[in-house]
Amino acid sequence: MKEKMEALRQSFEQELQKAASSDAVEKLRVAYLGKKGSVTELLKGLKTVSAQEKKELGQHVNHLKRQVEEKLAQRVEAIQAAEEQREIDSAEQYDVTLPTVGAKGSYHPITIVQRQLEEIFASMGFVVEDYNEIVTDYQCFEAVNIPKDHPARDMQDTYYLENGQLLKTHTSAAQNAILRKYGAPVRAIFPGRCFRNEATDASHENTFFQMEGIMVDKNISISNLIYFMKTMLSEVFERDVKVRLRPGFFPFVEPGFELDINCLICGGEGCSTCHHSGWVELCPCGMIHPNVLQMGGVDPEEYTGFAFGLGLTRLVMMKYGVKDIRDLNSGNLKALGQFAHE
Ligand code: FA5
Repeated sequence: MKEKMEALRQSFEQELQKAASSDAVEKLRVAYLGKKGSVTELLKGLKTVSAQEKKELGQHVNHLKRQVEEKLAQRVEAIQAAEEQREIDSAEQYDVTLPTVGAKGSYHPITIVQRQLEEIFASMGFVVEDYNEIVTDYQCFEAVNIPKDHPARDMQDTYYLENGQLLKTHTSAAQNAILRKYGAPVRAIFPGRCFRNEATDASHENTFFQMEGIMVDKNISISNLIYFMKTMLSEVFERDVKVRLRPGFFPFVEPGFELDINCLICGGEGCSTCHHSGWVELCPCGMIHPNVLQMGGVDPEEYTGFAFGLGLTRLVMMKYGVKDIRDLNSGNLKALGQFAHE
């Protein structure tokens, strides 16, 4: 029986060498391991030998069976790998260095300016934070010193969800979370999309972008605020722009200011974009109210800070001479694509 096994092993090896396809290997498997296969017959033949022989021969036959199984599997793998390689080699070749055809798309002008601002502020040590568009009443109003029934809420009506949450009306909604996250000292900017339930015109949209900034440390004053505002504007516009600072009321700053920019659409003459005033409200700002610092976990006896809420969409209008804010949400790719290579 041992000789029979050896002869079987040799004939299997020879036939395996010749099997060049998965089908041929399968035929071989059936011939050796199938119901009537040669190895199976050997196993059946063990019934006719003595108990002692059965023990010894059984081990050999089972070893042979395992070897046949392993070699068949290896052969199938090798054939499949060769088939795959053949397919790869015969596939159509492309020159990946050829120029592409058709439109590539472009960044929205708001994205371009937002990234520019992020770079400017990052170079001055500010971290860039992201924040939710859906927020709670506490985050949007109460944490910035606008309690329920405060008249300042009338200026910022928004869209409410059934669960009581709302679409944020200003990026100030993140002030509390960021103060709590970093504590003091902190320098952070947080751009984001804002929503207001109000009539649209050339300079008002119901969906627009702001970029908030805060700086909290010991001895921060209005001079620091003015320095950062001036640096930011001269970098964005790459030229001198006329600005004016006037008192402004926001419950979360004290004192508060409105920073206006001379309208760059009409050069200050007066047009529909600036409501014929020659000035565009761009960046309200002020010294953070002690209540806001306290609610953010910062001791107002030890720290002071400034905050600003830049009208990012309006800044984009001024930078690129866009007369009507609604054009920026128009989806007009021809118009919006022209700033892509700036
Ligand atoms: C605020 O939203 C305050 N949170 C800003 C602030 C932050 C003040 C930190 C002090 C300290 P205001 O409602 O004025 O303020 O909006 C800020 C800027 O967002 C405006 O100057 C304007 O540029 C822009 N803005 C406001 N409403 C609209 C609108 N409907 N469409 C387009 N831009 C708008």
